Amino acid sequence: MRTSQVLLALASLCLSATAQISDPFKQYTISAPDGSISASFIGSGASLTELWVKDKYGKLRDVVLGYDNRTLWQTDPDHPVFGSIVGRYANRIKNGTFSIPISKNPDPNSPNTYHIFKNDHDGQDTLHGGQIGWDRRNWTFVSSTSSSVAFKHLDAGDENFPGNVTATATFRVSSGGKLDVSIVATATQKTPIMLTEHVYWNLDAFQNGNKDILNHRLRISSDKVIQGDAIQVPTGNFTPVQGTIFDFRKEQPISYKWNNTIGNGGCADCVGYDNPWVYDQTTNSLPSTSLYSPTSGIKLDIASNQPVVQVYTGNWLGTRRKAVHGGPTLIYDKYSAVAIELQGYVDAINNPEWKVDQIYYPGKDFKWSTTYQFSVVK
Ligand SMILES: *[C@@H]1O[C@H](CO)[C@@H](O)[C@H](O)[C@H]1NC(C)=O
Ligand SMILES: *[C@@H]1O[C@H](CO)[C@@H](O)[C@H](O)[C@H]1NC(C)=O
Ligand SMILES: *[C@@H]1O[C@H](CO)[C@@H](O)[C@H](O)[C@H]1NC(C)=O
Ligand SMILES: *[C@@H]1O[C@H](CO)[C@@H](O)[C@H](O)[C@H]1NC(C)=O
Ligand SMILES: *[C@@H]1O[C@H](CO)[C@@H](O)[C@H](O)[C@H]1NC(C)=O
Repeated sequence: MRTSQVLLALASLCLSATAQISDPFKQYTISAPDGSISASFIGSGASLTELWVKDKYGKLRDVVLGYDNRTLWQTDPDHPVFGSIVGRYANRIKNGTFSIPISKNPDPNSPNTYHIFKNDHDGQDTLHGGQIGWDRRNWTFVSSTSSSVAFKHLDAGDENFPGNVTATATFRVSSGGKLDVSIVATATQKTPIMLTEHVYWNLDAFQNGNKDILNHRLRISSDKVIQGDAIQVPTGNFTPVQGTIFDFRKEQPISYKWNNTIGNGGCADCVGYDNPWVYDQTTNSLPSTSLYSPTSGIKLDIASNQPVVQVYTGNWLGTRRKAVHGGPTLIYDKYSAVAIELQGYVDAINNPEWKVDQIYYPGKDFKWSTTYQFSVVK
């Protein structure tokens, strides 16, 4: 063994020792040197529990949804997924089934076909990784500084996915109101990996009498959405946004076509969005989604290496708010926040005609990175 190997072995010993004693609900807070942003996290789901940024008056607001009682991250029957990392495969998987190599309609009896627990729409499909996805797993604290923190998760073939996947999520805040999140995942055999960070934003933080995001301005650099069937499973087709409720190429109030979204929000008679937009280009350097509230003046620009963004307007919310948002008397009602989920093409593992490769293996690591940049518009 070389010194570096000895050190590695020692480090992993320490890690497994920490794993046994580390409290998944212990909160870690990081802050930028200039005080422009601070964020808190727990090991459970590597979840973002609080995010404080300055509004146009210079006052700090906590702009993300969460719970004060942190055990609810694993027990809330509503399971809205507040600020957690979602995996091993985020969003929907048609019939909870895929094959390796991938195929359009996998033969359910083939040894190359994998069956994941169907936890969505009365057992018709898989959502967010199965019965216990990564968002409800106990990630292990790895290390932290005053402005960064990292957690690690070993998914040892959980939920019937093939092989082990080890993921490390690193969160870093910096001066000028910036949060950088990166996740690297390594697999021991061929497996699909598709991750997201599932943060719900309300840029007013429920102040000034504000209670929903209908007046938040949204911009998405995308000319098409992935078409879903009646249970939001991709059909394989795309819908051009031109002339539809999905056209946010120019910044618009989220509600600008609200009444036309009827039937789109996940049930026949409800309104709202829960759709995947495909970015015109995948670029880490330019923000492809922006969210802005004229009330607080807070603007969020999101740049990512991921090709798709799922935007969900909280159509099914209904849990008790954090005290800082007026809880526990008040609840997070529907449309009280918008989830913006940077991810891969939804269910590409059942749509080989897209030619999107989401299979990872030793030597091919999965890498996810997203920058959340805050500013104020006066
Ligand atoms: C927190 O939630 C758990 C359920 O996860 C519940 O058993 C417990 O009583 C709650 N604690 C408080 C202080 O409300
Ligand atoms: C869906 O998966 C189940 C196993 O979970 C299988 O029995 C069934 O044949 C599959 N349906 C289709 C249409 O492939
Ligand atoms: C996570 O840890 C908590 C507290 O130790 C425990 O109650 C829970 O069962 C663990 N969750 C999982 C999915 O292992
Ligand atoms: C997968 O993880 C389990 C649990 O830690 C371990 O026993 C097993 O050896 C791992 N398999 C591989 C191929 O690394
Ligand atoms: C939607 O329709 C309702 C009832 O017709 C109306 O009161 C409301 O103002 C409309 N909302 C928007 C955003 O157009």
